[in-house]
This record gives sequence, C-alpha cells and structure tokens, in this order.
Amino acid sequence: MKHIISSDQFSTDILLTLFQNAKSFEEKLNNSMGKVLLKRKLEGKLLFNIFYEPSTRTRFSFSAAAFHLGMAVEDTESASYFSSAIKGESLEDSIKVLSLYKPDAIVLRHSEEGAAFRAATVSNVPIINAGDGPGEHPTQALLDLYTIWKNKGRLNNLTILIGGDLKNGRTARSLIKLLSKYQGVQFILFSPNSLAIKEDLRAFLKQNSIAFMEIDNHLDRVLPAADVIYWTRLQKERINSSDGSDLESEYDKFILNKENMVHAKNNCILMHPLPRNTEISSDLDNDPRAKYFEQAQNGMYVRMALLDWVVNS
Ligand code: NCD
Repeated sequence: MKHIISSDQFSTDILLTLFQNAKSFEEKLNNSMGKVLLKRKLEGKLLFNIFYEPSTRTRFSFSAAAFHLGMAVEDTESASYFSSAIKGESLEDSIKVLSLYKPDAIVLRHSEEGAAFRAATVSNVPIINAGDGPGEHPTQALLDLYTIWKNKGRLNNLTILIGGDLKNGRTARSLIKLLSKYQGVQFILFSPNSLAIKEDLRAFLKQNSIAFMEIDNHLDRVLPAADVIYWTRLQKERINSSDGSDLESEYDKFILNKENMVHAKNNCILMHPLPRNTEISSDLDNDPRAKYFEQAQNGMYVRMALLDWVVNS
C-alpha cells in the first residue's frame, strides 16, 4: 500500500516517472480524444478528501484530478466542524471507519504535525498527506518540483532562494527535502531570524552535505544568484497573535516587486505555493518569470499522476 506521508520517500527515478506521466496527462487533457480516454483510467474508483484545515488549491485540484481520471470523489471541507471531530471523535477512529467504506485513497489535511502518519497506521487504504500542520506538504513539493523541471529543464545544479516563514511553512520544508536529492543544488534561505528553518531540517542539510546559507537581510544582494525564487507567506495562523503583528511589519523586507526583481536573472523563475498576501506584488503577475499561477495548475496534473500511481499500481 502506498501512503504518501513525506517528500523523503520519493526516489529520483520515481519522481521522473511521475513527472513524465503528469506531462502526458497534461497533453491528453488538452486534446479532446485524450480527454475521453483519460476518463476511463480510474473509472469505478473512489477518493475521499477529508480536510480539517482550510484549502483552495489542494482540495479542488485533487477533486479535479480525480474527476478527469473518471474517479468519484466524496469530500468534506471544515472537517473539524462538519465531521464527528466536533463530537469528540479521534482522527484515528474517523480514518479507521472511512477506510472501511473501501475508498481507493484518502486525501487528508490536518492541523497537527504527524497526523497523516497517525492516519496511515490505522487505515486499510492509502493515505495522502495534503498538509499536516507545520509538518509537511509532499504533494505540493511534487508540483513545485514539476514546475521547476518543466521550466528550467533540469533539477541538478540550481541555486534556489527560498524566502518567508521557513519555520512554520510546510511547503518550503517539503521542497527543501525533495530538492536535496539532486546534485549541485544549493539553497539561500531568507527569513526573519525567528522564522528560520527548524533545527531538524538544518541538521538534515548538514548531514547530507547540502550547501546552504541563512540570511535575514539585504535581499538585493542575493537575488542575482537565484535560478529559482520560491516565496512564501507569513503563516499567521501558526503564530501566536502577539508575535504576529511585529512579524508582519518585519515582513515588509520580504516584498518582491518590479523594483527589486530588476536584480534577479532574466531566466530565473518566481514561484509561490499561494495563497499570497503582500509578499509578491501583483505588479509582477505579468512578468514572464512569474510562474505561480502555472504552478497551481501544474498541481492538478501532478495529482493526476500521483492518484494513478497510488490507486492503479
Ligand atoms: C500552502 C499550505 O497549505 O501549506 N498552500 C497550498 O497548499 N498551496 C501554503 C500556505 O498556506 O501558505
């Protein structure tokens, strides 16, 4: 059974296969004959989406991915309120029962780190981690990597500037782990000191001899080095409110706009998992380097490939 819990678990061979499949699904979906054929791929299969935390892209792109492959979807958002969690049921009991209804996979988003792993220990069907609090977001890392692969044509020898709330943001965490599998990758990690990466990730980078530097100022000096700029929002919901207001003003240093993007390479790409707040100015949306909306759409193709891999093999 293939649970998808962490981006650690993917080998570069599997990643390449998934990306090639995602690309072929993308091509088929944009052609009328291909679209009809795709609908038969997972016909008769059932997906449960259970989301205890808010989501726009992840939940809808999983539902759309399942739909395009002919798979039925049962879906609950706000599961903290609209499931038996509000009556005091544990995550383990809910998942145990849902898995008895014989879905072919369960996509789970939860506010607690480790929730997807706990769910996997009691589930009879594959669990797909769609974000476990400040823990991981492996399917986002897959679509982020797919976007880099498509646009840069390689995953080796890249300098990646990752900025924002690196302590609480799970997308940056999963992406750093995934990119660390490739040769010649180096990271510039730009965050306020209090929101720097957690110690376990720092230890992971050191143990694997991955080149990285951590900085909290002078964005203009590092922008020219980046092949990929990956920006993230302040995770306000994970920060206690008294710290939050100070950090919000500190976040002004993180705003990317037309003026500072002049320093970035012409052939770099600018990514963001979305939702954004003010950290990427909308005046960059028409910059050809801005890939964040394409990135969101890639999520659907990658999740098609992932569902096919998890359910059909
Ligand atoms: C991210 C998440 O939920 O971690 N959103 C997403 O899935 N695209 C990023 C975020 O909320 O900041």
